[in-house]
Amino acid sequence: MSASGGSIAIIGAGSVGSAVAYSLLLRQVVADIVLVDINHELCQAQVNDLSDATFLSNVRIRQGSVQDAQNADIIIITAGAKQKPGDTRLNLIDRNYKVLKSILQSLQPIRNDSILLIVANPVDVLTLFAQRLSGLAKNQVLGSGTLLDSIRLTRILASKLEVADTSIHAFVIGEHGDSQCVAWSTATVHGTPLLKVLPLTDNEREEIATTTRKKAEAIIKVKGFTSYGVAAVTSRICEAIIFDHRQVLPLSHWQQDLDCCLSLPAVLGRDGIISSFPLHLDEEEQSFLSESAKGLRKVIEEYKE
Ligand code: LAC
Repeated sequence: MSASGGSIAIIGAGSVGSAVAYSLLLRQVVADIVLVDINHELCQAQVNDLSDATFLSNVRIRQGSVQDAQNADIIIITAGAKQKPGDTRLNLIDRNYKVLKSILQSLQPIRNDSILLIVANPVDVLTLFAQRLSGLAKNQVLGSGTLLDSIRLTRILASKLEVADTSIHAFVIGEHGDSQCVAWSTATVHGTPLLKVLPLTDNEREEIATTTRKKAEAIIKVKGFTSYGVAAVTSRICEAIIFDHRQVLPLSHWQQDLDCCLSLPAVLGRDGIISSFPLHLDEEEQSFLSESAKGLRKVIEEYKE
């Protein structure tokens, strides 16, 4: 892949923001990457370190102000507090809502065809607030959501079947958090229903879903944060936007029926979310999804600034 002429701004130059920049740089998604952080010294050090890797790709990376980010094709928000061991992502809402609000205020006016990609947690709640605060159309504001969880799930299934991850289509849907659920009934291996080629018992399914759901927690317990997976996922999302791939990915986006943002498969292209892709869930999955939405709506309704 060669870099398009576009530009991407990353707000937040911590472990996630810098890993996102590194991933974008290696994948040559755009020619120009702007890193923004209130800690200018840290941001410059990250840029200096990253610029030592640009010989691989000819991508330009620089430190910028929030105003430099206003004109980017994609603005990625990674800034905010991280989960501590034992924390849920939803516990971060207080701190990260304030960070998001102040970033969005300084970003005004955002270029009206920019895509705002929320990566900070709790991603579903922040995506909804960003839709309300940014002034952009809802389809232009999305969250990385359960794409990462779906990739984690796919890896487990692929290793059981000893096939490439790309031969498996399996979605984790709902909240990128504790109320997420696996859409087992729709999972396929190259078109064949997954449960036909891998007949899992209820317990086995539960175990796989739990390992998937708790993977971040297990990593955070030891290294304090996750960064590479979310960075790779973020650069995949950016590629689909910049190159108008129209790829179907489980991403957090506005759900009219559920009155919140959560992840369901969506067609992703240059305009952001082109459409939600219908998923035919069974009754049990449908009810898990409704519960996930209910939990998110409750957090949003009860949140007081
Ligand atoms: C994770 C963080 C990004 O799941 O929520 O790794």
